[in-house]
Amino acid sequence: MERRKFIRNSASAIAAGFIAPSMLNYGNLFANHVSANDKINVGLIGCRGMGWANLSDFLIHPEVDCVALCDIDQNVLNRRAADAEKLRNTKSALYGDYRKMLERKDIDIVIIGTPDHWHCLQMADACAAGKDVYVEKPIANSIAECDAMVAAAKRYNRVVQVGQQQRSGDHWHEMKKYIDSGKLGKIAQVNVWANFNYAAILNPIPDSPVPAGIDFDTWLGPAPMRTFNEKRFHGAWRMFWDYGGGLMTDWGVHLLDMALWGMNVTGMPNRIFSSGGQFAYPDNYA
Ligand SMILES: NC(=O)c1ccc[n+]([C@@H]2O[C@H](COP(=O)([O-])OP(=O)(O)OC[C@H]3O[C@@H](n4cnc5c(N)ncnc54)[C@H](O)[C@@H]3O)[C@@H](O)[C@H]2O)c1
Repeated sequence: MERRKFIRNSASAIAAGFIAPSMLNYGNLFANHVSANDKINVGLIGCRGMGWANLSDFLIHPEVDCVALCDIDQNVLNRRAADAEKLRNTKSALYGDYRKMLERKDIDIVIIGTPDHWHCLQMADACAAGKDVYVEKPIANSIAECDAMVAAAKRYNRVVQVGQQQRSGDHWHEMKKYIDSGKLGKIAQVNVWANFNYAAILNPIPDSPVPAGIDFDTWLGPAPMRTFNEKRFHGAWRMFWDYGGGLMTDWGVHLLDMALWGMNVTGMPNRIFSSGGQFAYPDNYA
């Protein structure tokens, strides 16, 4: 089956955004007889953490090639360029501006592994450039941005998948099947627990000059202007409203989603309440 047709045929399943690349199993279909026409060229935007993890998974499949890497941090970019070369023994083109990368005609799929405040713009631009997209979760920071992204995927007729990989895990599918079988009877309540503190313990430090090699203005992008602070930057940004939604969105999209999926909930909640406080780390950011 020709590459494009295969992707299109998979589109209905992917449309919901819930099939991991490894599940598509291009590798098994094409292993050992990948012609140049069947190659899938990938470009990665945001190379430090999850973006790189995704790309490494993509590259398990022999028909996938990484042709371009983009990051606003030259140090990250150089490190990942070396890592990618180690995996495949080929050099990727390097970009600091994702729009330049999107001008390339040879890129089929773009992986977006940037902080959440960038997802909407980059995803919509990638769709407009005719690329299919694997965008990390949470889809974006507002419902309005999510709606714009769905509209972009439809308008440009792109295959888009979101990094909520739990939806592809066998054990979660077994959970869903078991609940749907009715063996548990009528379920009155579902509790979801998340017991993480990573990135949450952030003793404040003063702002500092932007380190060499970092294009901080572009990192801020659509977020409000401010001076550089290491504790609001790589990895730690998720704890600040300007860029993310704390662990509630970081992990909520994974684990709350499992409860909603299990219970076949597709609408909006009737009521939400929360309580909290800064008990364990009172010197933390407010
Ligand atoms: N699916 C999962 O299990 C999972 C796990 C971790 C993170 N994530 C998601 O992955 C995304 C990235 O998270 P992370 O922890 O890897 O963050 P990170 O801060 O470690 O990495 C983000 C990278 O994006 C780069 N970047 C920022 N703005 C850019 C721009 N405009 N153009 C190019 N590069 C830019 C940064 O320099 C950095 O290298 C987030 O949306 C996060 O929620 C998903």
